[in-house]
Amino acid sequence: MEVITKISEMQTMVFSIKDRKESIGFVPTMGALHEGHVSLMRSARDENDELVVSIYLNPTQFDNKEDFDNYPGQLDKDIEIVERENADVVFAPCTDEMYPEGFCTYVTQDKLTDTMCGRLRPGHFNGVTTIVTKLFNIVKPDKAYFGQKDYQQSVVVEKLVADLNMEIDVKVLPTVRDEDGLALSSRNKRLNPEERRSALCIYSSLLKAKSMFASNVKDAKEIIEEMTSIIKKAKHTRTDYISIVNAHTLEDVSLINEKAVAAVAVWIGNTRLIDNIILE
Ligand code: PAJ
Repeated sequence: MEVITKISEMQTMVFSIKDRKESIGFVPTMGALHEGHVSLMRSARDENDELVVSIYLNPTQFDNKEDFDNYPGQLDKDIEIVERENADVVFAPCTDEMYPEGFCTYVTQDKLTDTMCGRLRPGHFNGVTTIVTKLFNIVKPDKAYFGQKDYQQSVVVEKLVADLNMEIDVKVLPTVRDEDGLALSSRNKRLNPEERRSALCIYSSLLKAKSMFASNVKDAKEIIEEMTSIIKKAKHTRTDYISIVNAHTLEDVSLINEKAVAAVAVWIGNTRLIDNIILE
């Protein structure tokens, strides 16, 4: 496995892969890798000739300096994890490489980024769409793999690819959870044991949404009220949003009569976690 830190070297590598007419599967990450990332790598490994994984903590998508400063970093361990998954290349550039002095071009998307995390984290999705576009241009993948855990991000990236005519097949894979249901996240590492227990309210609220919907409750407000009360009861919680949105447009729905997503963003102490469940 090659570890590449320079864009020019990555481009040379991609050129030779394309020359051999091999397909590239790509998993972009910010590191602090866990089984959620690994599940993306395994699918990408199975479905492509070459597997490229990027590890880059992208500063432009952080709206909160503390969150960026405290994001867990473990590059050596991450490289071992990627190697174990039989990747061909890790692309791990530094920020001077990705955003050299004078950098001033950004990719923005509206509508889909007006709700949920987009509304509460100004600039976040511009950072995501910009870095994902740059990574796609450098790695030139045939298929790129994203997790349903970041549901809004997956919809935003699918639209980015469609609107800008990128010839990339975007695959969105199910959320990997701990045994007790908490969605795996690099930020879980920051929770103390009591916060870790409290964090379970997130999945409980989503399961409640699912069971209410299954028993024919279609009124989003009614479901959101139940979810809110579950999250409020747990210690150390502060809600950013609890939304039920159309699965494609991400607009809030009042009556669930099409595929929808129940999505939450909750602070557990000083850690913000997100999760969602599909209602259909
Ligand atoms: P990061 O948070 O490292 O996540 C990388 C990919 O792993 C994303 O597609 C995310 O949805 C997926 N993922 C995270 N937790 C998961 C879980 N529990 N189950 C399944 N998939 C999971 O998302 C980013 O990085 C960045 O925004 C990035 C796209 C790399 C751009 O900087």
